Amino acid sequence: MAGNRTLTIIKPDAVANGKTGAIIQKITDAGFRIVAMKYTRLTTEQAGKFYAVHRERPFYGDLVKFMTSGTVVPAILEKENAVEEFRKLIGATNPANAAEGTIRKLFAESVERNAIHGSDSDENALIEGNFFFSELERF
Ligand code: CMP
Repeated sequence: MAGNRTLTIIKPDAVANGKTGAIIQKITDAGFRIVAMKYTRLTTEQAGKFYAVHRERPFYGDLVKFMTSGTVVPAILEKENAVEEFRKLIGATNPANAAEGTIRKLFAESVERNAIHGSDSDENALIEGNFFFSELERF
């Protein structure tokens, strides 16, 4: 059965460009309930751990540098079939391939500076939610 929670991060490009409010509006308009949300900034060690699955990829170093370059806004979101529904809302990883009206089509600059993250599975949604939020914050 599909889970009902996912983890998102509004990334440093979108936060710096003043798009946080517009993106949150798109998320809530699409029927997601915000369970937890905060402003934070990742250290190199934390970003490296979050993206550890990409450690061997050629873009890993740049990705960690980008994700530590400014404020991020992680959030836990709730909706039926959350992971799949949210990935539809944000669009393809590369904004050049993202469908019209998706968050990445509207706000992303490039495959790296792509405005927003969404978990790719229920298992990772749980791991990523636990990474950013304490037990008390994700009730
Ligand atoms: P995200 O879905 O948050 O998780 C992995 C990230 O790696 C992805 O978003 C992109 O920001 C980045 N990424 C994926 N593929 C590439 C690529 N080919 N070049 C640069 N960055 C990439």
